[in-house]
Amino acid sequence: MIGTGNLTSDLMKGKICMITGANSGVGKATATGLAKMGATIVMVCRNQERGEQALDEIKRDSNNELVYLMLADLSSQKAIHQLVKDFKEKYKSLHVLINNAGVNLSRVKLTEDGIETTLAVNYLAPFLLCNLLFDTLKESQPARIVNVASSVQAKSIDFDNLNGEKHYSQMKAYSISKLALILFTYEFARRFDGNEVSINSLHPGYVRTNMIRNFRKFVKYFFPFISLFVIGPKRGAKTSIYCASSPDVEGVSGKYYKKRKEAKSGKISYNEDLAKQLWEISTKLTNLKS
Ligand SMILES: NC(=O)c1ccc[n+]([C@@H]2O[C@H](COP(=O)([O-])OP(=O)(O)OC[C@H]3O[C@@H](n4cnc5c(N)ncnc54)[C@H](OP(=O)(O)O)[C@@H]3O)[C@@H](O)[C@H]2O)c1
Repeated sequence: MIGTGNLTSDLMKGKICMITGANSGVGKATATGLAKMGATIVMVCRNQERGEQALDEIKRDSNNELVYLMLADLSSQKAIHQLVKDFKEKYKSLHVLINNAGVNLSRVKLTEDGIETTLAVNYLAPFLLCNLLFDTLKESQPARIVNVASSVQAKSIDFDNLNGEKHYSQMKAYSISKLALILFTYEFARRFDGNEVSINSLHPGYVRTNMIRNFRKFVKYFFPFISLFVIGPKRGAKTSIYCASSPDVEGVSGKYYKKRKEAKSGKISYNEDLAKQLWEISTKLTNLKS
């Protein structure tokens, strides 16, 4: 009964799952949940020490030895290309890609590629990973992509201010990166057959993690109120695990989930022209050919 959150079946045995940002919060709980279901887990983390510590805990808590670590700073496109190259040399299949890693930064910080870091990590890294790993996912079909977005979504995107050239706010940058991820999810689903490679996005809930602690500084006056609704990482991982593993989601593509149910994302996320425009710009920003 995966749909009701039973994490102990062998449903994912033989499935290779790559999870970015798997050393803490929602990502670590997702990795543990899928490992409990027998999956082979490839954790993508940027820090070796934090990654290795989490890897030991995930192996111990899941009683599954098939948990591996790959290092990549997802703010660097060079590191993403290297990650994909190393992954393809080691593994022949990829059944589930979970784009979970995320940041929210209080000040503008450009990456080595000259891109605002929140946009680079939360959106462009998933865009690049999905494109570079698409062939492997397709060969492993039925394969799934799960994009961890948020209910915090911008109502518009100013393409002339993507790097905070005109102005920058932490909440705005974060909410634009999440809107971009959802627009991309829908556009990807329109372009590719969901029976081969499906793609969905989700809101994990408001979860007690390092991320919410960063927001605490930002929304300090409302935080006592918000914290009434905050859940633990294990509960926060349930929708990611559901989208990655449930038979109910097989072949379902281009949807947005909350609490393991289909939900509506913000109105603008369904704008197909905007999604196409974003795809073109993303292709240029990541130097992809097409
Ligand atoms: N918590 C919430 O209430 C909430 C609500 C809606 C959506 N989300 C989304 O849920 C996802 C998981 O966040 P979380 O709440 O679990 O926060 P978290 O505990 O801070 O986890 C974020 C993960 O992303 C990793 N990461 C950040 N920058 C990276 C980079 N440049 N390269 C590689 N990895 C990087 C972090 O690694 P380090 O440990 O090395 O920093 C960490 O493993 C995010 O996409 C977030 O936007 C969270």
